[in-house]
Amino acid sequence: MRLKSALLFLSLLVAGRGHDVAVDQTSTAYPVETYLPLPPGTDSPPLNSDGYRYEYLGAGAWMITNNQYQCMAVVSTEGVIVLDAPPTIGYLILWALGNITTAPVTHFVYSHAHADHTGGSYLLGNVTRISHYLTKEFFELDPDPHRPPPDITFSSQYLLMVGNQTINLDYYGANHQPGNIHMYHAASKTLMLVDIAFPGYVCYGNLAQSDYIPGFMRAHDKALEYDFESYVGGHLTRKGNRTDVQMSRDYIYDLYGYCREAFDLGSSANNATNNLSSTVVAEASLAANPGNYFAVLKEILGTYAQYCNQKTNDKWASVLGAADVQGYSNALKMVDYLRLDFDVFGFFLPQNLGK
Ligand SMILES: *[C@@H]1O[C@H](CO)[C@@H](O)[C@H](O)[C@H]1NC(C)=O
Ligand SMILES: *[C@@H]1O[C@H](CO)[C@@H](O)[C@H](O)[C@H]1NC(C)=O
Ligand SMILES: *[C@@H]1O[C@H](CO)[C@@H](O)[C@H](O)[C@H]1NC(C)=O
Ligand SMILES: *[C@@H]1O[C@H](CO)[C@@H](O)[C@H](O)[C@H]1NC(C)=O
Ligand SMILES: *[C@@H]1O[C@H](CO)[C@@H](O)[C@H](O)[C@H]1NC(C)=O
Ligand SMILES: *[C@@H]1O[C@H](CO)[C@@H](O)[C@H](O)[C@H]1NC(C)=O
Ligand SMILES: [Zn+2]
Repeated sequence: MRLKSALLFLSLLVAGRGHDVAVDQTSTAYPVETYLPLPPGTDSPPLNSDGYRYEYLGAGAWMITNNQYQCMAVVSTEGVIVLDAPPTIGYLILWALGNITTAPVTHFVYSHAHADHTGGSYLLGNVTRISHYLTKEFFELDPDPHRPPPDITFSSQYLLMVGNQTINLDYYGANHQPGNIHMYHAASKTLMLVDIAFPGYVCYGNLAQSDYIPGFMRAHDKALEYDFESYVGGHLTRKGNRTDVQMSRDYIYDLYGYCREAFDLGSSANNATNNLSSTVVAEASLAANPGNYFAVLKEILGTYAQYCNQKTNDKWASVLGAADVQGYSNALKMVDYLRLDFDVFGFFLPQNLGK
């Protein structure tokens, strides 16, 4: 059953609809690892026979999902506002809307530019599109007929009012991607914020492929400033709540703390409790790869990421799903970005390199 649902998951990723997948048991191009069982809170609620479901959030707001991606529809007295249109749900969004309301879609909001959340925008036809101006900039740089450019852009705040509905669109600076916005529907106490917290799970690998890590962390704190009960994160199997966002925040801040700790230990000498000394790692790496400082850097950051991953997962692996799957890539990204975004250099400062 587990294998069957995994295959269904893969086929949905590829085709957007379930179909039979033939598996060639003889080919293992990549070693298959076994990970920890998923903790409670990660289950997939049943989908309808067409492979999607919609869930009422209150006050005319709905979540539409295929248990991998999520978008929203807010029904007003003067038309429907759709927030995001993941192409893997695609036209099923229209089917869901058909069962939710007879009102036409009049407005579409881009959470951010990434196609995996917005590449179905064109399916909604001629509607008024709204995004942050930086999202529009991405579409101007690389035009895509699946993501028509917005008609309305804003910089820090936009109050979207359609009929009896109001949605606050707020921007607090670069995070997962420059232009990624907080979308708040006060009437249903729903916050939609995409690719930041993944209810039940740790974030997708490489810190959710985020562009700006301090902003990715800040986006969690800004989220918690809203008075919300439902959280629509764009992923994964279910909607979330404040606890989910708080846990995601605490996981990321732990990752950050343990990565900083690794930098400190790396700048110190090895002893009975510390084997992270970067001097030792660098000497071993240079002996094996004479003159290859890219190799040295990779080895040193790798030891930091390994330490950070282990410490973080001691705490979180039984709490959040797939912490052991994504933990190392999350830690490695955090380690790398400590130098780029947080001005943390440790061993790499000249006084350490020289000693
Ligand atoms: C707005 O109107 C829609 C459609 O009549 C209704 O479903 C929804 O509950 C209303 N929402 C608010 C906030 O008044
Ligand atoms: C309502 O949902 C069903 C089941 O997914 C779907 O087959 C049907 O097309 C939908 N109805 C409309 C009017 O979109
Ligand atoms: C789209 O809708 C607007 C507003 O109703 C209208 O002015 C415009 O001509 C329409 N564009 C197309 C291509 O249908
Ligand atoms: C938040 O959601 C989780 C998972 O569904 C649930 O266990 C928890 O009770 C919820 N917390 C609140 C405050 O509703
Ligand atoms: C080992 O080194 C670490 C890092 O400098 C230090 O915090 C710790 O106290 C040392 N432990 C011992 C037993 O010397
Ligand atoms: C340091 O020790 C830990 C715990 O024994 C181990 O998992 C890790 O691989 C060691 N790291 C290095 C760089 O030797
Ligand atoms: Zn994204």
